[in-house]
Amino acid sequence: MVLLNSIVGLSLASIASASPLHARQNASSPCAAVAASVATQTIAVPTVPAQLAYDCITSVPFNQSAALALVDGIVPYVKWQSTTAYLKDPPAEYIEKIQDPVDLWADLGAIRDKVVAGDYTNEFEFGWDVYIFSQQTHDGHFVFVPDVIGTVFNWARQTPLVSVSADGVELPKPYVYSDILAESFNNITYIPSPVYKINGKDALEFLEDWSQLGSLQDRDALYNNVFYELASVSLGGAGAGIGTFAGSGRGRWPYPGAETTLEFENGTTLTYSNYARVLIPFDGITDGESLYQLWFTGNQPTATEAEPGPSNSTTPSPTLSATATAATTTTTTTSIPAPGYPPPVLREENNLIGGYYLDGEYSDVAVLSVPSFVSLDTAEIPFQQIGEKFLAAARAAGKTKLVIDVSANGGGTILQGYDLYKQLFPDGIGHATADPFRAFESTDLIGQKFSEVSEGLPRELVDPNENATLYELTYEVVSYVFNYQSDVDVNGKNFPSWEAKFGPVERHGDTYSNLIRWNLSDVLTPLNSGGIYIHGYGNLTNFTQPFAAEDITVVTDGYCASTCTIFSELMRKRGGVKYVSLGGRSKAGATQAIGGVKGTNNFPWTYIQFLAQYTHTLGTTAESAYYNTTELGDYWNNTVFDRQAIGSSVNVNFRDGIRDGDETQTPAQFIYEESDCRILYTKEMSYDVTAIWKAVADSAWGGKSHCVAGALGGYGKKMTKRERSVQDKVLARSQQMWRRGVSVDDYPLDVFTDLRGGAWAGNAIMYP
Ligand SMILES: *[C@@H]1O[C@H](CO)[C@@H](O)[C@H](O)[C@H]1NC(C)=O
Ligand SMILES: *[C@@H]1O[C@H](CO)[C@@H](O)[C@H](O)[C@H]1NC(C)=O
Ligand SMILES: *[C@@H]1O[C@H](CO)[C@@H](O)[C@H](O)[C@H]1NC(C)=O
Ligand SMILES: *[C@@H]1O[C@H](CO)[C@@H](O)[C@H](O)[C@H]1NC(C)=O
Ligand SMILES: *[C@@H]1O[C@H](CO)[C@@H](O)[C@H](O)[C@H]1NC(C)=O
Ligand SMILES: *[C@@H]1O[C@H](CO)[C@@H](O)[C@H](O)[C@H]1NC(C)=O
Ligand SMILES: *[C@@H]1O[C@H](CO)[C@@H](O)[C@H](O)[C@H]1NC(C)=O
Ligand SMILES: *[C@@H]1O[C@H](CO)[C@@H](O)[C@H](O)[C@H]1NC(C)=O
Ligand SMILES: *[C@@H]1O[C@H](CO)[C@@H](O)[C@H](O)[C@H]1NC(C)=O
Ligand SMILES: *[C@@H]1O[C@H](CO)[C@@H](O)[C@H](O)[C@H]1NC(C)=O
Ligand SMILES: *[C@@H]1O[C@H](CO)[C@@H](O)[C@H](O)[C@H]1NC(C)=O
Repeated sequence: MVLLNSIVGLSLASIASASPLHARQNASSPCAAVAASVATQTIAVPTVPAQLAYDCITSVPFNQSAALALVDGIVPYVKWQSTTAYLKDPPAEYIEKIQDPVDLWADLGAIRDKVVAGDYTNEFEFGWDVYIFSQQTHDGHFVFVPDVIGTVFNWARQTPLVSVSADGVELPKPYVYSDILAESFNNITYIPSPVYKINGKDALEFLEDWSQLGSLQDRDALYNNVFYELASVSLGGAGAGIGTFAGSGRGRWPYPGAETTLEFENGTTLTYSNYARVLIPFDGITDGESLYQLWFTGNQPTATEAEPGPSNSTTPSPTLSATATAATTTTTTTSIPAPGYPPPVLREENNLIGGYYLDGEYSDVAVLSVPSFVSLDTAEIPFQQIGEKFLAAARAAGKTKLVIDVSANGGGTILQGYDLYKQLFPDGIGHATADPFRAFESTDLIGQKFSEVSEGLPRELVDPNENATLYELTYEVVSYVFNYQSDVDVNGKNFPSWEAKFGPVERHGDTYSNLIRWNLSDVLTPLNSGGIYIHGYGNLTNFTQPFAAEDITVVTDGYCASTCTIFSELMRKRGGVKYVSLGGRSKAGATQAIGGVKGTNNFPWTYIQFLAQYTHTLGTTAESAYYNTTELGDYWNNTVFDRQAIGSSVNVNFRDGIRDGDETQTPAQFIYEESDCRILYTKEMSYDVTAIWKAVADSAWGGKSHCVAGALGGYGKKMTKRERSVQDKVLARSQQMWRRGVSVDDYPLDVFTDLRGGAWAGNAIMYP
């Protein structure tokens, strides 16, 4: 639940002050004090002071044998991570500009040694090492969050920040977001002053260090993710909310200390107590030991199946045909507030995609805002339709320029990324990368069996009501990557056998499958896409390109990951479209537009386990007995699932994106690439998203560049002032009314990431 807080009075202070101190004095242990405090609170997510939560969670005793089972249980899944060899030995430019090398196997071994030596003093210390083991890769697809890190508490700070430039040219400085809001809406008496120290440390240094705890690889994108952002907020609990500094996104897991002290340039110093959101009932918990017994031994009081992942693989896909639910799926009313966004022309009800027109001198410009590539399995078909309908409507309304905003886009469904590109370039080449996976015993055995089974089955859509068995085999086996008949090679040809697809090919000290690409004309496409076919293929070929490449500009905040990077690779390399990067660290120079994981497919560990176990069921008893003597005997154990945090994502990166034409075949994840233009955030952009879109339009077509590095100019084709139509006037009026009606209370300061529940979807998604 999102609470709307009055910002001016800093009423968030009350969140953390539900008098737990009394409880603490009286209680016999920190966890009992948490329990006592929770018992007095009637809100959905109670809060306690961060220090108290920390004292409680660090009082959970370390269990050596359980820790050893967890560390060893992780091993079979880490083998699926495609980039291990590159993480250990990345290109020099990656080390220089992106991140340090990481030796995953050595680090896991070091944790194991420490467990064996009994050197952990409590469970939290151990859990943190395991979490950092995954987080330090800065691969948003590779993540394991132990129960002790994410099941009980999420940490938070009371004050979301923004980083803004005074004039769009000066380097940005951090501000308390509520100061900026109050200044613009409330006619305050003081002038907001930048934060220059945090906890006694240089603020920029503090924030850069904190940003490194995020999921992205690019340091400027990580920095942006520290702050309040309208695009993230518009995703509600499914996004990175109000930024990692305040405890949204990956900022919910690192302990921020008891207090945060902000020193401002004007000499004022303010100290806020940090707090923890309590995610479980504390019934029956009297100390760290009872917390352990109740919640960390695999039989939690509430089920753990809220874990996000792909739609349950054994459940039939809800829709077989993109046309099945064609009507009535577009909307402009949404269930999640999107503060700072103008009235849309069309918008998906979870704000996953929306179309907007700008007014006044920008009346030539249409904006497609795409903060997700479908993270919810109910939204696959509406998502495609809104894109299609909006592009058609924009053309019909005479719009000649298109800004696409992919800020906050952590990806979603792979083929939606291909489809949106093909909606924009229906005749464009349908690939910009090839996508190999790691070739090793598990992937080989699964592929052999899946390919063998598929050879006896038709490659066509099956009605689940006619033959449920055949439907399931088509969905799980025939349509998928482990059947050699799925996908094509780099020459666009079918593979003749599993051996031809699998390889293995030796590269960079590891072994990979041959280069593979999606077969976008596959009749089984809907089984991999959540129900859609791809524009430009099959019977979706009667489309004309809606905008010339030079009339499109894409803008990002760097938080563009997974399917968003697939889309962006197609747009840049095949479409020739220019990209704008926003914000970034308080440093001069260019920044990257794509700062999130460029791997092209994540696999939840639950899905890996399913694949292995399903392969047993496809074979005879003798085959299954044989599999038990191979790696496929390593996936029966549920320790890792019993010990993962409720509502956390647990994934590996399964496929790399190898760029077309890259002779070195380096995964795109390890390649640094600057945007065409970097634009700094201004104060206005932090509460009115149209200020971003106008700065992009100005820079691309308005002859007024806001780029502090790079440029978009040289197109020659300018925005035109046109006769205002009735529709333009209606739009201008609704935007004026929106601007007049908006107030400080429209901007929630407590939008926290919460992946518990929800119909999650996506096969290339970086969960926040
Ligand atoms: C806790 O202790 C305080 C101070 O000793 C006392 O005022 C308060 O009534 C106690 N509360 C409970 C619930 O025992
Ligand atoms: C430690 O974990 C093991 C499982 O590995 C369990 O059998 C044992 O009861 C646990 N010890 C305590 C004290 O909870
Ligand atoms: C799961 O695997 C771990 C590590 O190999 C082992 O310690 C544990 O006993 C296994 N659990 C079961 C139920 O087999
Ligand atoms: C600012 O506040 C003062 C005092 O409350 C008021 O007189 C003035 O009209 C306000 N100005 C604006 C622009 O709202
Ligand atoms: C100094 O700036 C801070 C942060 O904007 C503000 O809260 C405070 O009121 C300011 N102090 C003065 C004396 O203006
Ligand atoms: C998948 O669906 C089946 C059948 O509805 C159910 O029994 C199973 O628990 C589900 N698995 C997950 C991981 O949700
Ligand atoms: C359903 O499909 C399976 C797998 O192809 C086949 O063995 C079975 O005979 C089919 N059942 C019917 C009723 O057609
Ligand atoms: C792609 O899929 C279609 C339909 O399933 C199939 O006919 C075709 O052979 C596949 N391969 C290529 C290279 O198109
Ligand atoms: C497009 O093709 C699919 C699959 O062959 C079919 O189900 C659908 O009805 C077709 N749509 C149109 C508009 O012809
Ligand atoms: C293709 O689109 C054009 C214009 O939208 C339409 O007139 C024509 O009937 C369409 N053709 C087919 C085969 O759907
Ligand atoms: C394979 O191993 C699992 C786990 O030990 C066991 O349950 C299963 O019966 C074995 N399968 C065969 C065919 O031996």
